[in-house]
Amino acid sequence: MVKQTTNGQKMSRMNLQLRKFIFPFFLIVFFISSSYINSTPIYSLKNSYSPAQKGISYGKNGMVTTQHFIATEVGEKILNKGGNAFDASIAIGFTLAVVLPRAGNIGGGGFMVMFHDETQKSYSIDYREKAPKLSNRDMYLKDDGSFNDQKLSTFGYLSSGVPGTVAGLWEVHQKFGSLPWEDLLEDAIHYAENGFQISPYMSNVLRTYHEKLSYFEETKKIFLADYPDFKNNLIQKDLANTLKTISTNGRDGFYKGAIAQKISSSMKKNGGLISLHDLSNYEAIWREPLKSDYRNLQIITMGPPSSGGVHIIQMLNVLENYDLSSFEHNSSKYINLLAETMKYAYADRSEYLGDPDFYDVPLSKLTSKSYANSISQNIQFGISVDSSDINPGMYIDNESSETTHFSVADKYGNVVSSTYTLNSTFGSGVVIEGTGILMNNEMDDFSSAPGIPNQFGLLGAKANEIAPYKRPLSSMTPTIVMKNNELFFTTGSPGGARIISAVLQSILNIVDFEMNLEEATYAKRIHHQWQPDILEVEFSIEDNLNKELSNIGYELKVSNPLTCIQTIMLKNGTFSGYGDFRRPDAFASGNIND
Ligand code: GLY
Repeated sequence: MVKQTTNGQKMSRMNLQLRKFIFPFFLIVFFISSSYINSTPIYSLKNSYSPAQKGISYGKNGMVTTQHFIATEVGEKILNKGGNAFDASIAIGFTLAVVLPRAGNIGGGGFMVMFHDETQKSYSIDYREKAPKLSNRDMYLKDDGSFNDQKLSTFGYLSSGVPGTVAGLWEVHQKFGSLPWEDLLEDAIHYAENGFQISPYMSNVLRTYHEKLSYFEETKKIFLADYPDFKNNLIQKDLANTLKTISTNGRDGFYKGAIAQKISSSMKKNGGLISLHDLSNYEAIWREPLKSDYRNLQIITMGPPSSGGVHIIQMLNVLENYDLSSFEHNSSKYINLLAETMKYAYADRSEYLGDPDFYDVPLSKLTSKSYANSISQNIQFGISVDSSDINPGMYIDNESSETTHFSVADKYGNVVSSTYTLNSTFGSGVVIEGTGILMNNEMDDFSSAPGIPNQFGLLGAKANEIAPYKRPLSSMTPTIVMKNNELFFTTGSPGGARIISAVLQSILNIVDFEMNLEEATYAKRIHHQWQPDILEVEFSIEDNLNKELSNIGYELKVSNPLTCIQTIMLKNGTFSGYGDFRRPDAFASGNIND
C-alpha cells in the first residue's frame, strides 16, 4: 500500500528497492566509523553476506518465522505432519537451542503469548527463570555495601537463574499439543547429534565471542572445535543425549534425575546457587495476557514479569491521541513524539515493574487511557524534555541485546508468539559438564544493587530487587494484534531494553503507515529509554534530520542494529512473513500443505 506523507513523498516500492542497496552501504560506513555504541559488532565487514530472507514469504496454510532457517524448516515440517502452531513452536524452541546457541536455549527462559482457535481465547505462559532459593538481595554487593565486580551477575555460575524453557514448552504441550512430545524433539536431537553447517553469520558470532567461549573448558570444547572453517559442522553430542532424556521423560528429564543432579553438583562445585530443590520446584505459570485496543485493533501481549506488554500498551495509548498517518514517517516531528513517549514509559518501568508474585505492579493505572492522556498533555512538539525532569525512578541499563523471537500461525487459526533468552549472547558462558546445556545469566536482569548507586551512579528500584524464587524483570514483548477477532499480525524481537521500542515501531509501521512486512522491516528504528538521555538511531542519520533533532535538544547516537523483528501477517486469507535482515540467518516461510 502506498502511503502519502505530509511533504508529498511516497513510501513507494522503488524507494524500498533503493533502501535495499543503501542499507548494506550504511552498514559498511557504519562499521568503518567508530561511532557505534556497542563495541561488539553484530556484522563483520570481512565476511558480509546476504540474509537468508530474499523477500516476503507467502503461504495459504500457515507461516513460521524464526531467527534460524533450520528452525523455520523444522516448524514447517511439524505443521506439514499435521501438528498445530503449538507443536511447531515447541519443536522450534528445542531446535533453536541447538542451531542458535547464542540465544536459543534449554538453559534459559521466556514467554509465550498464544491465540487458541478452538476456545477463541488468548493465553500466555511465563517460563521466565527464577532466582535460586539461596540468592539474596545483596548477593552482588561487597561487604561495605558497594557494588561488586559486575561480572558476577553476568558471567559464570553465580549469574544463572533456574531455567524455565523445558517446563514452559512442556506445559504448552500438555494444554494444546496434538502430536506426541517425542516427535517434537526429533529434529533438535538430529541436529545436535549429527551436527549442522555453521553459517557465515554464526561463524562471525563465534569469532566475536571467542574469549567468552574460551573461559570454561566445557564450553570451549563444544563451541571452539575447528570453528573458523565456514563449512564446519557443529556437533553437540552431550546436548543430544540431554534432549533424548527430555524426549523420554518429559519435563522431569530436565528438572529431576541425572541431568538435574549434574546441574546442581556443577553449581555447587563452582560457586553457583541452583540446587536440586530449585530445579524440582520450578513451575511455568499460565498468566492472563494483557489486552488492550489500539485504533479498533485488539492488542494481546505479555504482562509482568515482562515490562514489555505494559509499556507497549501505555505508549500506544499515548500515541492514539495523534493522527500518526498524517506524519511523515521518521521525520523529526514523528521521532520527537516517539522519543518523548518512550521517555515516560521507560521512566515508569524503572520504578513500578517487577515480578507480580512479589510486587504489586500498578497495572491498571499504567495501561489506562486516562493516564496516557495525561502523558500526552505533557508532550510538546519541538521540545525534548530533559530526562531528569521526568520522574520517578532511575533506569539501570544492564540488559543485553541478545534473546530470540519466533512466531507460528497455522491453518486452524492458532497463533503463537514467543520470545526466549539466555540474556547475554551465550548467556553465562557456562556449559554444565556432560549435558551440553548452556546456562543463562538472567540474574543480571534484577536490580543488582537496590538503593545503592552502581558503577554508573544509577539506582535500581525495590520492585525488581533480588529475592529467592523471584523472576527478574524482562523487556520481552511477544505480541499478537487481532482485527475483528482474527489474526492481523504477530510480532516480537530480541534486543534487551530495545525490544519494547522495536515492537512499538513494528506495530505503528503496519497499522498507521500501512507498510508491508518488508517495508516495516527495512524502516530504521529509533530508541529512547529515558536514561541515559540519548536518542539512538539505527545505521546512520541524514544531515538535515540530525540538525532538526539536535535543534529540538536531543543528544543523538548512531547505534548498531540490535533488534530483529519476526512478524507474521494475515491479509485476505494469505499469510505473509519476513525474517529481519539485521540477523541474516532469520527466515520466514510458509510452505505448508493443505
Ligand atoms: N534478558 C532480556 C530480557 O528479558 O528482557
